[in-house]
Amino acid sequence: MKIRPFGVEEWMNTYENDAVTNIAETCVDSLTVEALLDLSGRKEELLEEIRSLRLSYGDIPGSDRLRDLVADLYSGQRRENVLIMNGGAAANFLALYTLVEAGDEVVSVWPTYQQLTGIPESFGAKVTLLPLSPEEGFLPDPEALAGLVTNRTRLICLNNPNNPTGALMERDRLEALVEVARSVGAWIVCDEVYRGLVHDPALDVPSVADLYEKGISTGSMSKVFSLAGLRVGWIVGPASFIARAFSHRDYTTISCGRLDDLLATVALESQERLLERNRTIVRRSAEVLRQWVEGESRLDYVPPRAGTTAFVHYDYDLSSEEFCRRLFERDGTFIVPGSCFDRDRWLRIGYAFDPAMLRQGLERISAFLRELEDSGL
Ligand SMILES: Cc1ncc(COP(=O)(O)O)c(C=O)c1O
Repeated sequence: MKIRPFGVEEWMNTYENDAVTNIAETCVDSLTVEALLDLSGRKEELLEEIRSLRLSYGDIPGSDRLRDLVADLYSGQRRENVLIMNGGAAANFLALYTLVEAGDEVVSVWPTYQQLTGIPESFGAKVTLLPLSPEEGFLPDPEALAGLVTNRTRLICLNNPNNPTGALMERDRLEALVEVARSVGAWIVCDEVYRGLVHDPALDVPSVADLYEKGISTGSMSKVFSLAGLRVGWIVGPASFIARAFSHRDYTTISCGRLDDLLATVALESQERLLERNRTIVRRSAEVLRQWVEGESRLDYVPPRAGTTAFVHYDYDLSSEEFCRRLFERDGTFIVPGSCFDRDRWLRIGYAFDPAMLRQGLERISAFLRELEDSGL
């Protein structure tokens, strides 16, 4: 089976370890185990629970306690609607593997996380892209989607909030997209691994799994809950779909690690404090980023409304890959070129961590821009 190289992951793998100022990261400032246990307020009790945890396979689809907590993140879901996976990446893979066959038609928003297009394509599906443009705030237009689907469309892939743009779809738009899917009987897989990381928590942003009888949402502990090292994610969808996905999963995954399951449970039980911490980081850092972009006359962007990344456009005459490579070679400042999303003259910046580190990275990019200007670019 052939599959396209995963642009953004290959870029990260090549440079990430040697980065001095890493502002390409997509997780909100990751927690240590100690910080997580402190946040729970039950450290000693939990340490005892960890010490006595028997390292068997545990509950094969994920523990009841964790699946109930995940179900509670949605409005109409129960334990049988949840399957625990090794991160959002495995959740996306399994959802697509369960649904898509050779010859199927799939429509996906673009730019997005490349799994959503690359995996269906590798299975032999015909993938049509629904382009997201800055003029439309990087939001998919339901009418444009209606023009791309047919009665053979098996699946529509969405991503909300969007990586790389930080765009956010609210209820009205999601309902309009669901209507289009329903009109042709297509499933929707919506990658929601950044769900909940909105700058304005009062916005109405339902999950696709709660909106549509053929809606499947994927989620993760990595970004919103700052625990990528756990490798815990999930699929949420109709119970019959979850049962089918589970029977596919038997071929790749027995269970997802009892310790990871337990620490994910602890995090979700402490989610109020954790989300408060993370939304504060995201809001503060987004403001630092906004001031910086506004102060640079040859940069512009659609301000992100959610997630951890922003897509910034530049007006300098060099490719995004050369831009990012030269920046990295200059002083170890690490960002992602738009070419990883087939959009040249764009850069993806991850902004969801300590504002001091973000400021340092942005100042270094500014110094690099002055050098480009001095060299006549
Ligand atoms: C949109 C999106 N989906 C899924 C993933 C995979 O994340 P994980 O497997 O850590 O949950 C990522 C990671 O960058 C992502 O940005």
